[in-house]
Amino acid sequence: MTDTTPATLTVRDNRDGSEHELTITDGAVSASEFGKQTGLALYDPGFTNTASCRSAVTYIDGEAGILEYRGYPIEQLAESSTYLEVAYLLIHGELPTQQQHEEWVHEITFHTYVHENVKSLMQGFRYDAHPMGMLLSSVGALSTFYPESRDIHDEQVRHEQIVRMIAKMPTLGAWSFRHAQGKPYIYPDNELSYAENFLSMLFKMSERQYDADPRLVRALEILFILHADHEQNCSTNAVRSVGSSQVDPYSAVSAGIAALYGPLHGGANEAVLKMLRKIKTKDNIPAFMEGVKKGDERLMGFGHRVYKNYDPRATIIKKACDDVFEVTGVNPLLEIAQELEKIALEDEYFVKRKLYPNVDFYSGLIYEALQFPAEMFTVLFAIPRTSGWLAQWLELVDDKEQKIARPKQIYTGERQLKFVPAAERWA
Ligand SMILES: CC(C)(COP(=O)(O)OP(=O)(O)OC[C@H]1O[C@@H](n2cnc3c(N)ncnc32)[C@H](O)[C@@H]1OP(=O)(O)O)[C@@H](O)C(=O)NCCC(=O)NCCS
Repeated sequence: MTDTTPATLTVRDNRDGSEHELTITDGAVSASEFGKQTGLALYDPGFTNTASCRSAVTYIDGEAGILEYRGYPIEQLAESSTYLEVAYLLIHGELPTQQQHEEWVHEITFHTYVHENVKSLMQGFRYDAHPMGMLLSSVGALSTFYPESRDIHDEQVRHEQIVRMIAKMPTLGAWSFRHAQGKPYIYPDNELSYAENFLSMLFKMSERQYDADPRLVRALEILFILHADHEQNCSTNAVRSVGSSQVDPYSAVSAGIAALYGPLHGGANEAVLKMLRKIKTKDNIPAFMEGVKKGDERLMGFGHRVYKNYDPRATIIKKACDDVFEVTGVNPLLEIAQELEKIALEDEYFVKRKLYPNVDFYSGLIYEALQFPAEMFTVLFAIPRTSGWLAQWLELVDDKEQKIARPKQIYTGERQLKFVPAAERWA
């Protein structure tokens, strides 16, 4: 007979000898149960050891270097799927039938246009506005164009906003790119695929239809697949946290974009390019590596909070580099990156600390080869991550265990001071 006694954890409070028994479920104990029994809070800045939700969207095993969306390994999706199919998978939890796929692609394709007033709103930004600031404001503004989106408990309404957001993201991202260049905004072309249409809105000039190289389209598609979700990272946590107030999904996603804007989240690939430029030639690598080991420098694009192995996305991006450079010509910085990687993977400092290339080590090189300025890198991240944010938001809305996000604090300030009115204090 199997033992059905639940696994428990006994906590002994040495202040008074009291013991508390907590049930262990799925490798966790309930923090609220812990609080009720012991009267103690759990102190965890940055949530490094706090599970905020149950989720069936994305699985990561950082030690083994595994990433799966809805159970499908990222390598297989990057190899044989498309971004829109992956977005369907993330949102719906399973792969589409042929008919579901056709309907999904049709819906997304026909919602790529935005209200003309959104265009006017974007045109009102300063000539040198950062595209990420433009993107987050315009996504937030969409909530005013679709006030029904506040009805988050209506399944059909939710579906419409999800389609709209995934569809409009490339339009808004491309327009924020054209804005800084002083070029006219290009309207979506519904004859083109998701990635082709994005490239068209970014780069089309006077030609009748933008004709992108299929190898570049595929590389972009792969980058979109790799960035679609990454479980409870900073921006997803922001979407869930803001979404827990039951605000509309545009406002929740714009909070995610704001989180991604920060250099600790979406900015490492730009830092990799800066580092490679600073190193300049292969001859300078040994001196640079000595600086890293002494703690004077950091090898950007290496190391990860979760992955203690090769980030599986880095392996796929490295392969995609070859295809892109075949079209655009090799970025001379690639040689330095490859040499750095080779040296680091054999060096005891990096081996001992389990530091491997992460997703950002090669992605900046590809983006640069595709003619994107560094400010666009996070926009290129936000566009595909929208499907992951929305999949997580949907899960949140339907999760009966979720409550409004409201962490505790440990108060460290003054108490019970006597207020003296300004006129008396300044007399
Ligand atoms: C991603 C990152 C912030 C993870 O940080 P973390 O989980 O807090 O890991 P730590 O900073 O505690 O690093 C552990 C050890 O490895 C070292 N280390 C981590 N990343 C390093 C790097 N890129 N170069 C050199 N040393 C590094 C730390 O100095 C530390 O060494 P110590 O034990 O001697 O003090 C960190 O690896 C980093 O800064 N990487 C470079 C930036 C980057 O590529 N970010 C994109 C992430 S997708």
